[in-house]
Order: sequence, then structure tokens, then C-alpha cells
Amino acid sequence: MGCLWGSFMLLCVVILLGMEESRAQQTKNNVPRLKLSYKEMLASNNLVTFDGLANSSAYHTFLLDEEKGRLVVGAKDHIFSFNLLNISKDYAQISWPASPTRRDECKWAGKDLSRECSNFIKVLQPFNQTHLYVCGTGAFHPVCSYLEVGKKPEDSVFRLEPHVENGRGKSPYDPKLLTASMLIDGELYAGTSADFMGRDFAIFRTLGKHHPIRTEQHDSRWLNDPRFVGVHLIPESDNPEDDKIYLFFRENAMDGEHVGKATHARIGQLCKNDLGGHRSLVNKWTTFLKARLICSVPGSNGIDTHFDELQDVFLMSTKDPKSPVIYAVFTTSSNIFKGSAVCMYSMTDIRRVFLGPYAHRDGPNYQWVPFQGRVPYPRPGTCPSKTFGGFDTTKDLPDEVVTFARSHPAMFNPVYPINNRPIIVKTDVDYQFTQIVVDKVEAEDGQYDVMFIGTDIGTILKVVSIPRGSWHDLEEVLLEEMTVFREPTAIKAMELSTKQQQLYLGSDIGVSQMPLHRCEVYGKACAECCLARDPYCAWDGTECSRYFPMAKRRTRRQDIRNGDPLTQCSDLQHHDELNGQMTLLDKTVYGVENSSTFLECNPKSQRALTYWQYQRSFDDHKQEIRSDERFIRTEQGLLIRTLHKKDSGIYLCQAVEHGFMQTLLKVTLEVIDTNRLEELLHHDEEAAASAPAQDLPSTPSHKLWYRDFLSLVNHPTLNSVDEFCEQVWKRERKHRKQKAHLVQQVQIHQQQQQQQQQKGVVNPHTHMHAQGLAAKWKHLQERQKGRNRRTHELERAPRSV
Ligand SMILES: *[C@@H]1O[C@H](CO)[C@@H](O)[C@H](O)[C@H]1NC(C)=O
Ligand SMILES: *[C@@H]1O[C@H](CO)[C@@H](O)[C@H](O)[C@H]1NC(C)=O
Ligand SMILES: *[C@@H]1O[C@H](CO)[C@@H](O)[C@H](O)[C@H]1NC(C)=O
Ligand SMILES: *[C@@H]1O[C@H](CO)[C@@H](O)[C@H](O)[C@H]1NC(C)=O
Repeated sequence: MGCLWGSFMLLCVVILLGMEESRAQQTKNNVPRLKLSYKEMLASNNLVTFDGLANSSAYHTFLLDEEKGRLVVGAKDHIFSFNLLNISKDYAQISWPASPTRRDECKWAGKDLSRECSNFIKVLQPFNQTHLYVCGTGAFHPVCSYLEVGKKPEDSVFRLEPHVENGRGKSPYDPKLLTASMLIDGELYAGTSADFMGRDFAIFRTLGKHHPIRTEQHDSRWLNDPRFVGVHLIPESDNPEDDKIYLFFRENAMDGEHVGKATHARIGQLCKNDLGGHRSLVNKWTTFLKARLICSVPGSNGIDTHFDELQDVFLMSTKDPKSPVIYAVFTTSSNIFKGSAVCMYSMTDIRRVFLGPYAHRDGPNYQWVPFQGRVPYPRPGTCPSKTFGGFDTTKDLPDEVVTFARSHPAMFNPVYPINNRPIIVKTDVDYQFTQIVVDKVEAEDGQYDVMFIGTDIGTILKVVSIPRGSWHDLEEVLLEEMTVFREPTAIKAMELSTKQQQLYLGSDIGVSQMPLHRCEVYGKACAECCLARDPYCAWDGTECSRYFPMAKRRTRRQDIRNGDPLTQCSDLQHHDELNGQMTLLDKTVYGVENSSTFLECNPKSQRALTYWQYQRSFDDHKQEIRSDERFIRTEQGLLIRTLHKKDSGIYLCQAVEHGFMQTLLKVTLEVIDTNRLEELLHHDEEAAASAPAQDLPSTPSHKLWYRDFLSLVNHPTLNSVDEFCEQVWKRERKHRKQKAHLVQQVQIHQQQQQQQQQKGVVNPHTHMHAQGLAAKWKHLQERQKGRNRRTHELERAPRSV
């Protein structure tokens, strides 16, 4: 029997050997310290979800209103208003579908009725104190309207004005296309496409008292099939006349800019007070300039790997409103190579590029070169103001300035990221980044930017960049990886409320909400809290809890920069032990000679490296177990193939993280020989068949067998090895059925046991239990043999009592 089990394990061993060993003991810097599944997030009260309406989807357009305590969300045919405290509690919804006529027209035009001919909300912007401006695709016929939300939170108004405006130049026609928009001073700035075919892309300014204005049409030097991801206003000086609008987008590289087809990430600039030209560029921007954003890593072969597909940007404000830090998320264009990166840019670098040489070429067959000639005055891109330009309006610009601006919209130099490289790169994973928000967190040893990165599989990564010595050497620490949607789906919208300390996430299937921190999950001990290096959390004397910089508590321990529990917590070691925190698991496991056993040791932190020590007895010296033919160290624990009698002894599982070592597990392994096990099973089968046998557990040897049974059948590691092999063999469904059956059997057995006890049967417990275990053991045996007979036998076994 042991041999059968052994050969089953052997198959697993081969696979384990190939897959796990090499990976197990490598550095684990890119591994999240904590990984929480969707179920775990829900169970630990760390996730609130809105699972979407049956007739809606695409919960992609977010507007956060912290003052009113609401999150307004635009989706397919609907607008929602959620309570920031709890999105599932009391939300309001407005249905705004396209009219049946529009839907018919859309269908006749050859579009997909169910997927495209609806009103997908794309613009949601604050308009005045009481109203929002809202636009949707309107079944390939963009429409806009005003949404009344009231002045104060108590007003609880949520009503769409019946009056509908033309949405061209505000929302795209095609729901697949993005719009980046911003409404300031009654004017809407939008990067979008303005035609049915999705070819006329432009940056528009509409609404307000001025004539609408846009980028030059049908000029690929200005825009070349762009996809807009963000618009922001950034002041240039203390004079509002110099205010600039910055747009972030990706587009096809300009003709001649790149060999072959390529995507480039861009930042574009405009003056807020641009009114267009007088004789040429009438109702067109005269101050539009764009520059390439580079995010790349040097390759070993001298060729850089470029991340060009800009996905999202987040502006982190600093003390100086003129100089926010720009966080941008990129993916690769390659079909073969999947990768994502985050790069950071400074406004100083961006302004330097816009003040640098313009990209110039003398004709279609020439190369792009830095323009060397005389740049007309005032320099194109300068805003009309008293500060820099010395002119009142763009309509006064000399003709030669407008002509130059028209043919030189691109800058020659690209913008490089801070430190010339990404702060995060992820290439060896099966997902890509989609969204980013950043929170500034005050910690004991300084201020940290904590990034929340959304992925295309419905997960959030929480990452902090910690300076190693200087700001030029950053260490990226992946704190948590959390699944926030019930199925893999791309995260398309993300908002962070500092007031509520919550994160809100939008996808095709719904909206989710989660707190920014869950300190208690790291564990109760000082060392665990310290190792977590989460700037939101500190050990407060009794547990790991939210860190508040204001509260003065001497017991508070936190060390983000070094994560060193030795300096922070060494005096508390005794305390931790007293409280039974960081508890050392101490257990006994029985193994059968010539079979295999698995000692599970899974540290809570995924970043910890584990290693094993062996001790023959308590006073014997400890020796490290190295992998060899019989001992295989895996990420889940230690696998021992072909147990020998001499393997009996004490096994210690040690976890090392950030130079701090702790013992997680102490296992006493006892190896018993096969003959004795068979003897036992034989005896027990007989006992099971011949019903009431009160004498079964009476002899000492029987007691020992009973214990063996208990440890073999209830051995937690049997399950984990099973699960692991199941994963490898992809026989999940079949086994799950079997498992469910086993659980059912155990339940039946327990019920019967209870009934028996209620009936007042004297001490049936031991025998009953042994029988139940025999059934379980047999089941496991059958399972390894892969026979179907087991069902019948199992059903019989407990009932024969
Ligand atoms: C979608 O269903 C909801 C009920 O779940 C209803 O209130 C709403 O009017 C429907 N929307 C459309 C556009 O039919
Ligand atoms: C949110 O509200 C729902 C419904 O009222 C409730 O079941 C849930 O416990 C609340 N969650 C939190 C975190 O308050
Ligand atoms: C806001 O704009 C709406 C739509 O134009 C208008 O009806 C409303 O009176 C305005 N509210 C305020 C306070 O100006
Ligand atoms: C264990 O395996 C060894 C070598 O294969 C064999 O000689 C020995 O008899 C086996 N022991 C038992 C108890 O089966």
C-alpha cells in the first residue's frame, strides 16, 4: 500500500523536480508579500462590490466627489451615483439609453446592435455648483446633457436634464475609442474622434463663450491615429494667463520617424487662452506642441526594450502646483513579448523639451532633424501673457509664427523618465498593467508614494518605491496583490479617496471598492508588521494597525526604509512569544517506510525564503537539509521521497526575509514500516466488517495504530500535495467531485456519530472514529488506484455500524 502511494508520489516528484526546485530559492523581490484572492478579500471584509446590472456593462467613466461623498459612474446606457462609504449600500441609477430610432440607424449602418448601438457614457465632468456635464456615444450619434446632483450632500438630487445637446467633438462615436476630457471654466477640452468612421481624431475645446477650436485636420504630423488617456491643467507661472493644458496619448509614429510601424507615447501641450489664428489656423490651436515620452530599459544586446503603449497617467501633486510628478503606465507593443512598466516624469524635464529644438524635415524623403534655423518670435508654444509672450491674444500672432507652428507641432527631443529608467518593470507575468493611482503616505521615517496599479486580469498591485541610499536608487517593494473582481477582467477606471482611505475600481462587469490598507492581515507580531514595510501600518504595542503620523505613541514601531525587525522589535521578542503571536507550529507526522511524505511549510509572506534544518533529537546539532535525490525543497514545503527509517527526527522550517530569520514550523517525523501498517489495515477492515468491537483500542499497540491512522488520514499535507498534482495534471474537476464525496462521507459519519451519542450508546467514539478513518484511508487508496468501485464501498462502510 505504501508502495502504491509511493509510486503515485514519484510521478509528482518528477514534475516537482523540473518545475519548482530551480525557482524556489531564487530571489523573491518581485513577489508580493501578501496575495489575497477574491474570496479572501470578501471574507476579510476588504472588498465591497457592485456586481452590475444585467442590461449594462462598461463601468469605465468615474467622477469622484469627495465633498458630496459620492462616486458617479458612467456605463452602458446608465449613470450611477454610489455612496463613497459603501458602494453597495444606497446607490442611485439613471437609465439613459439611445432612442429606438438611433439604435435602428446604428444597426443599418452595419454596427453590432447589442455591443455597439447603445449609449456608452464617456464624459462625466463637473459643470457648475449643481450640475455635471455628461456625454455618451448615443449609438454612434454622440449626445450630451446636464446631470443635476445638488449643491450639498443632503440634497440627494440625481436627475438628468431632458434637454440633449450634440456630442460631436466631446464623445467618440465608437464605444471602443477613448475620450480624455476635462471641463474648466465652462469649457470642455476633449481628445477624441469626431466622425462615424473613427478617422478624424482631434483635440477640441467646446462649450463656453468662445468659438469651438480644434487641432489641424488631416495632418498626420499633428495627430496620427491617437488614443487619448488623460488631460490635465498645469500652471506654468503664478499668472493664470500662462496656464497650459497637457494631453497624454499614444499614436502611430510620424512618417519617417521610425522604421516600420510603431506606436509612440506622447505628451501634448496647449495654452488655455489660445483662441486660434487670425489669417491661418483660424479656430485651430496655435500653441499645440507634442513630445515623445520614453520609457525603456537597456537590453543586454545593446538594444533597448521600449514600453510605448501608454495606458494611463496619474499626476501626484507636490508643494509646488507647477511641478506635479507624472506617473505613467506603459505596456509593450510586441505580440510575443508581454510587459508593463511604470515611469515617472518631472515637469522640469518636460518644459526643457518643449523649449528645445523643434522636429523638422525638408520634405517627405528627408530625415527628421532638430530645427537649426531662426525660430520666429514669439516662440511657438508660448502663451499670450505679460509674463513671457508680451502679446495679448493668439489672434495677434505674426503670420510667420502661425505658419511655423503649423508645420512644426513636434519637438525633436523626447522626454526621458526620472533616473532614465522605469521604477517598475513586469515582464515575466501573464498580465499587463492598465491603470494607476498614487497616494502620498506619511510614515515614521519619511514620506512615501504608494502606487496602486490595476491589471487586465482584475487584480490590484500595491507597490512602494523605497530609496536605497539616494533618490537615484529606488527599491520597488510589492506589498500586496489583490483580486478585486469575481472573474478576470481589465480594470478600466480607478479613483482613490484620501478622505475615505478607499480605492474604487471599474471594469466591464461592475464596480469594486477596497480600503487602502489592511494592516491586521500582516499578522499580530511586531516583527511581521515591521517586515511588511507598509507605510500605512505600524506596530502599536499590541498589533499591526493604521499608522497616524500625528498620534504620539512611544510603542509604535515602523521601519519602511530598512524593514529591520531586529532593531525595531528585538526587545519585544519575549512579548511576542508570551502572546503566542508568531506562533511556532509544533506537530508530529507519521510516514510509512518506502513511501513519500510532504512537510508543508508555507510562510504567510510570499517574499520569505524558506530553508529546512534537521535534528535527530532535541539535544542533537542541527544540520541544513540540502536538496538531493530524496529531499526536494519546494515553495510549498519539503518533499521526502522514499522514506527511510533513519529519516525519523525533528525538521525545522525556517523563513528568512530581509535578513530576519524565524522558525515557522517544527515537525517531528516518525517513520513506521510497511508491514505494520498492513497489519493494521487488515485488522481494521475486519473490525469494520464485524461490527461492535469495544476491545479494539484496548491494547497499547492498537493505540499507536490509531494515532498513525489519524496522522496519515488527517494529514494536512496529503491535501496540499494532491492539490499541487491536480494543478499539474489538470484533473481538477474529477478530483473535486471525489473530494466533495469524501467530505460528504465524513459528514454522514459525524452525523451518525452524533445520533449514536444522543441515543446514549456508551463510549462508541473510539471505534466509530477508527472506522470512519478506515473508510477515508481506503478511499484515498482507491483514489490512487483510480478505481470507481470506491463509491459503493464507501457508502457501505459507515452504514455497517
Ligand atoms: C435596465 O434594468 C434596470 C433594472 O435592473 C432598469 O431599471 C433599467 O431601466 C434598465 N435599463 C434599460 C436601458 O433598459
Ligand atoms: C456595505 O453594505 C452592505 C449592504 O448594506 C453590507 O452588507 C456590507 O457589510 C457593507 N460593507 C461594509 C464594509 O461596510
Ligand atoms: C448649472 O448649469 C445648469 C445647466 O446649464 C443650469 O440649469 C443651472 O441653473 C446652473 N446652476 C448654477 C448654480 O449656476
Ligand atoms: C523498501 O525498499 C527497499 C529497496 O527497494 C527494499 O529492499 C525493502 O524491502 C523495502 N522495505 C519494505 C518494508 O517494503
